Amino acid sequence: QWTPGHIIDDAVSRIRAQVGNDRVILGLSGGVDSSVAAALIHRAIGDQLTCVFVDNGLLRLGEGDQVMATFAENLGVKVIRVDAEDRFLTALAGESDPEKKRKVIGKLFVDIFEEESNKITDARWLAQGTIYPDVIESAGAKTGKAHNIKSHHNVGGLPDYMKLKLLEPLRELFKDEVRAIGEELGLPHQMVWRHPFPGPGLGVRILGEVKKEYADILRRADAIYIEELYAAGHYDKISQAFAVFLPVKSVGVMGDGRTYEYVVALRAVETKDFMTAGWYPLPYEDMSRISSRIINEVKGVNRVVYDISSKPPATIEWE
Ligand code: XMP
Repeated sequence: QWTPGHIIDDAVSRIRAQVGNDRVILGLSGGVDSSVAAALIHRAIGDQLTCVFVDNGLLRLGEGDQVMATFAENLGVKVIRVDAEDRFLTALAGESDPEKKRKVIGKLFVDIFEEESNKITDARWLAQGTIYPDVIESAGAKTGKAHNIKSHHNVGGLPDYMKLKLLEPLRELFKDEVRAIGEELGLPHQMVWRHPFPGPGLGVRILGEVKKEYADILRRADAIYIEELYAAGHYDKISQAFAVFLPVKSVGVMGDGRTYEYVVALRAVETKDFMTAGWYPLPYEDMSRISSRIINEVKGVNRVVYDISSKPPATIEWE
C-alpha cells in the first residue's frame, strides 16, 4: 500500500536524479497543483527551485499575500512575486468579450512569465503541476481553458523559456493523491482542499469589461460568501462556489435614501467531473445571512441573487 509518504520519497529521489545540480523555474498560481508541485520540488532540491508568482490583480481577497506567506515565509521557498495588476487592467480595458478576455489574460501571463524566467539565466528546467487527468484531457480541452503554462503554448511563437526541459512530478497522480501529499508536505488544509479557480480568475467573474472598482467589490463579496460557507459547514460539500459581479445597477433603499447600485450573483455547484453540475441547495437562512452581510458590508452592492441553473444548459462560470 502506497502512503503519501512513499509517494513523496519516490518523487523526491526521481526529481533529484532528473535534475542533478540544475536550477528549476516554476510558475506558482496558488492553485492546488502548482502549489503541491512547488512544495514537492522544494523538498527535493531546496534552493535550486525558483518560483514565479504573477499577481494579475484578478485574484481573490488576500490571495497574493497568502501565497507568499505559505511558500516564502513558512516553507522557505524562493518566490519572485510580480505585481502586474496595472498591466493586466490596462490590457483588458475596453474588452468585454469572454474569449477575448481569456486570450488577453493568457497572453500577458505568458509574456510576464517569460520576462521573469529569462532573468533566471542558468535555469534548465521548467516545472509544471500537470496531473494525470490533465494528461488524458489535454486533447479535448475546453477552448481557452488554460490552467497551466503548457496550455498557453499556442499563443504566438515558442518563447525562450520553452528551451527548458519539462519537469512534471505529479504527472502520474490523481487529484486526491496530489491533495494527500500536499498536506503531508505541510501545505495548509484550506489551500489543499480549495475549490478550483480558473486561470483567468476574476476576469471571467466580472461580466463584460473588467475594472479595478468591480474587482474590489467582487473580492469583498466573494470573501464574505466563502467565509460563511465554511462557517456553516457547506464548503466541503460544494464542488465550486464563488460570487459573480454583474455590471448592472438596480434601485434599492437604505435608511431614508434611495440607492442605485450593482448586483452580485452567488453560484454554488455540486459535480463529479465539472462536465455536468447541479446547483447546491443552500438553506434559506444561510442565503439570507450571506445576502445581508454582503449588502451591509460591501459598498456598491444593494442586491444579491442566487443562481439556480444547472449545467447544462448553463455553464458553471458565467463567462
Ligand atoms: P464551465 O464554466 O465551462 O467550467 O462549466 C468548468 C470548469 O472549468 C473552469 N474554467 C476554467 N478554468 N481557465 C481555467 O483554468 C478557464 O478559462 C476556465 N473556464 C472555466 C471552471 O472554473 C470550472 O471549474
